[in-house]
Amino acid sequence: MSDNRKPIPFFSHEKIETNNFLMVVLILLVVAVGGLVEIVPLFFQKSTTEPVKGLQPYNALQLLGRDVYLREGCYGCHSQMIRPFRAETLRYGHYSVAGEFVYDHPFQWGSKRTGPDLQRVGGKYSDEWHRIHLNNPRDVVPESNMPSYAWLEKALVDPSVVAPRMKALRMVGVPYTDAQIAGGAAAVQGKTEQDALIAYLQVLGRALTDQLNAQAAAPATPVSAP
Ligand code: HEC
Repeated sequence: MSDNRKPIPFFSHEKIETNNFLMVVLILLVVAVGGLVEIVPLFFQKSTTEPVKGLQPYNALQLLGRDVYLREGCYGCHSQMIRPFRAETLRYGHYSVAGEFVYDHPFQWGSKRTGPDLQRVGGKYSDEWHRIHLNNPRDVVPESNMPSYAWLEKALVDPSVVAPRMKALRMVGVPYTDAQIAGGAAAVQGKTEQDALIAYLQVLGRALTDQLNAQAAAPATPVSAP
């Protein structure tokens, strides 16, 4: 039997489809260009790089609390990312916006929710509620399966790590002042890891929630007649 197939033209789809190497290289190229086109503009978009109004870098105690949050793997059960869906915003509050995370290195969005999202937990409970809850969650939520973190109440934070932490964060753009860095250690002297963690939890999402609460409380601005 003779092979009566026509030769494959050089610039043709068939050429790509019948050549594994060419196919792989071109797929990578398409994915890379497609990815860059979507991702790179975000680096320059104001809404993703500008902090929301009122957002402050974590103070010394909150910063150490954040370290405890990371060390204990709280992100393994808790996200910090409220998606813009009704079911989410009714339960947790205003959805997360990029400008809330500009001082988070790295952000703690997470993807696993064994427990609830914590993005708007700041100000939701008293410090005392958190103390009881961290020592034994079942004392306030009987059906809770969150582990207890009772040892945090006894462990003291290490003030010597504050200044290097803040300096490192400043290098990646967090606007700590020299005074904040110099005074950091004194601010956390004698505090427990539980104090630090609660300080961190209490500030989560607050820049935006405080702003929204202030708007809600303000008298409605009169609408000028058309
Ligand atoms: C094994 C999963 C798990 C881990 C790990 C975990 N949690 Fe939880 N967490 C839960 C569950 C489930 C709930 C809901 C029941 C409750 O309130 O205890 C919860 C609730 C909470 C709440 C109350 C949220 C609300 O809006 O009512 C806070 C605050 C919290 N966790 C903080 C933490 C912190 C901080 C850590 C790390 C030290 C942590 N959790 C680790 C599962 C977990």
